[in-house]
Amino acid sequence: GRTHREPPSGPNPWENPLAAQGLSTRKELYERDFPLYKQPVEVGCFSLDSERRFFNDSRQMRYYVEPDRNPNFDLRDGYRDRFIKRDDNVKEKLDHMLQWILTNRSKLNASAATASSCALDVDYVTWRGHLTKLLTTPYETREGWLLAVTKFRDTLYISEVETEAAYRERMNRTERHEEMMYWGYKFEQYTCADDVHSLPDPGGVVNTNEAFCTVVRTRLAHHRLLFSGEVDCRDKDPSAPAPPACYVELKTSAEICTPKQRSNFHRFKLLKWWAQSFLPGVPRVVAGFRDHEGVVVSVETFDISKMSQLIKKEHNCWKPTVCMNFCCDFLSYVKHVATENNPHVVYLFSWEPHRDVTYSVHRDSQYSFLPHWYVEQMSK
Ligand code: A3P
Ligand code: MG
Ligand code: MG
Repeated sequence: GRTHREPPSGPNPWENPLAAQGLSTRKELYERDFPLYKQPVEVGCFSLDSERRFFNDSRQMRYYVEPDRNPNFDLRDGYRDRFIKRDDNVKEKLDHMLQWILTNRSKLNASAATASSCALDVDYVTWRGHLTKLLTTPYETREGWLLAVTKFRDTLYISEVETEAAYRERMNRTERHEEMMYWGYKFEQYTCADDVHSLPDPGGVVNTNEAFCTVVRTRLAHHRLLFSGEVDCRDKDPSAPAPPACYVELKTSAEICTPKQRSNFHRFKLLKWWAQSFLPGVPRVVAGFRDHEGVVVSVETFDISKMSQLIKKEHNCWKPTVCMNFCCDFLSYVKHVATENNPHVVYLFSWEPHRDVTYSVHRDSQYSFLPHWYVEQMSK
């Protein structure tokens, strides 16, 4: 039987003999009907503490406390003296997700009949952030990506590899840029409380090692996905819907003063915000708009379900269907290419703006990312 998808009609870019090596990212190719995307179901969660230690629980969950519409939050406060930054030289790859999988394997196991070959009954395991990059690829003109894929017991694991350009950018960040990366976390501190009944503590330390992550299961067309993503906070109302519908994504963005700025915000920023939250089924984004001095001057809530309407007035704007169809076809391409079950083999998919997606194969290389503790436990 066929294991890959054949669209009923229209171009199928990776089966086109002229593109036998690659997958096109041209947006026109993906303007089909919206593919089936099943409502994401939270199957678990985990927390990373102030020292980046893993806990199979929600201890790092935070609760959203609605700020004033015009709050005057100073995002620069604490950057010098109350900031502990996660070490971004440490590449964690899929490790925390894999740790979650091992701890919760019984929840995921397929029926006894299939448990023998497909250890998990999903086709892909990855981070939400990697899928966000795939969704926005047809519209991305600046940053390429590298995604390492390993097939192990019939599941495809997808883990990002930092590109050389991204590495260089990271090493050459300006002091201003470094500080601005803090601002988003500082906004979280102004709007989140540690307990249902407490209030935010803007006098505390911002520690970006801390994280609460949801693990969701869903299906994109015939691709069964298991992925995890960081969640900023939740609605503290006890009558709020169950996760992920009670989750809230927090963002900061430059204040919008001109029609041009508004148009850019709709065309570029909302695309990223939409893709990130749509994937795990997070229904809303609370945005803090800041001035040049890093002061939040207004706060606005955006519903994910209303974003694509909001942007339709924009000329040459992004379309959710293009994002989802490209992601779906990329996953089919991966399934077609990465066929050998072997934890030591990496299929490295690479993409640069204005190019097709291509791949190379690596055995026992620097790219191997499934840790031996995972392979060993999963082989039992
Ligand atoms: P903003 O979203 O307000 O920019 P997230 O929004 O995904 O929860 O991330 C929280 C903050 O982490 C961001 O706040 C930003 O400050 C920082 N951040 C997220 N992704 C980043 C990236 N790729 N590069 C630099 N900083 C990033
Ligand atoms: Mg976050
Ligand atoms: Mg956020």
